[in-house]
Amino acid sequence: MKELRHLINITDLTVDEINHLIEVADDIIDNPEAYQDICAHKKLATLFFEPSTRTRLSFTAAMMELGGNVLGFDQAASSSTAKGESVSDTIVMASCYSDIIAMRHPKEGAPFVAANHAEVPVINAGDGGHFHPTQTLTDLMTIHRKKGKLGGLTIGLCGDLKFGRTVHSLIEAMVRYDDVKFVMISPEELDLPGYMKETLDAEGVEWKETRSLEEAMPELDVLYMTRVQKERFFNEEDYIRLKDSFILRRKMLEDAKEDMIVMHPLPRVNEISVDVDDDPRATYFFQALMGKYIRMALILFMLGMK
Ligand code: NCD
Repeated sequence: MKELRHLINITDLTVDEINHLIEVADDIIDNPEAYQDICAHKKLATLFFEPSTRTRLSFTAAMMELGGNVLGFDQAASSSTAKGESVSDTIVMASCYSDIIAMRHPKEGAPFVAANHAEVPVINAGDGGHFHPTQTLTDLMTIHRKKGKLGGLTIGLCGDLKFGRTVHSLIEAMVRYDDVKFVMISPEELDLPGYMKETLDAEGVEWKETRSLEEAMPELDVLYMTRVQKERFFNEEDYIRLKDSFILRRKMLEDAKEDMIVMHPLPRVNEISVDVDDDPRATYFFQALMGKYIRMALILFMLGMK
């Protein structure tokens, strides 16, 4: 029997596998008809114990565009979790009813536990402040489409680097490409966690920290903005004090490279002013679209079909 693959952390995929997924996603964009019935009679379960718009909808749209079906729930309150069912029991159930599972959970490590009990592939769609590998695939696809490469880039990561799981997974992915430099832009209290700094140092990656977005701007090829993660704060006062630490305004882009791209996993709250949206460098809505194509490629890969 073929070994079951799960995607819990982005490093569960090799660089070759990531590049393969990007190739398949490129082909899906060019030849959508070739894929429209490929998953007929297959079912994706989306188990979302935490709120989501893009991740859940793009997984749903991805499976629909492959001709498959989707079932699941979009909040813990509407599942038997509300009655006290454990994650592992819920997963065993979902394994009975589906061919593949995408799961989001507020607790770090929950998708790992799920994978240990599942009889079908489990994809981590975000676990607490930990990781978010499919957002990273989305981000890599976006950078590939916009910059034509994944190496040789200076990437500014701005906002909540402490709790922002998208940042953690993106770093883990990008350190594996050549000549990538990072500029960390955050308030001190929302600095990158120590274990992520260790990853950067262990990989010998060039990186620095600054408290000023303006100062970092001119050297960036990619500016990755993030939301301050309200739901991970222990007290509201801290959140209120930190939430507007960095706001990207159109005027600030005057000092940016002409071909820099502004990314954001979304949802945005205040951190990108709406007057940035029609600047040609604003890439976040395009990024959300790329999330559908790369998830189509991922579903096919995890089902052993591509
Ligand atoms: C992100 C997440 O859930 O971590 N959103 C997403 O999946 N696109 C970012 C966020 O919520 O700030």
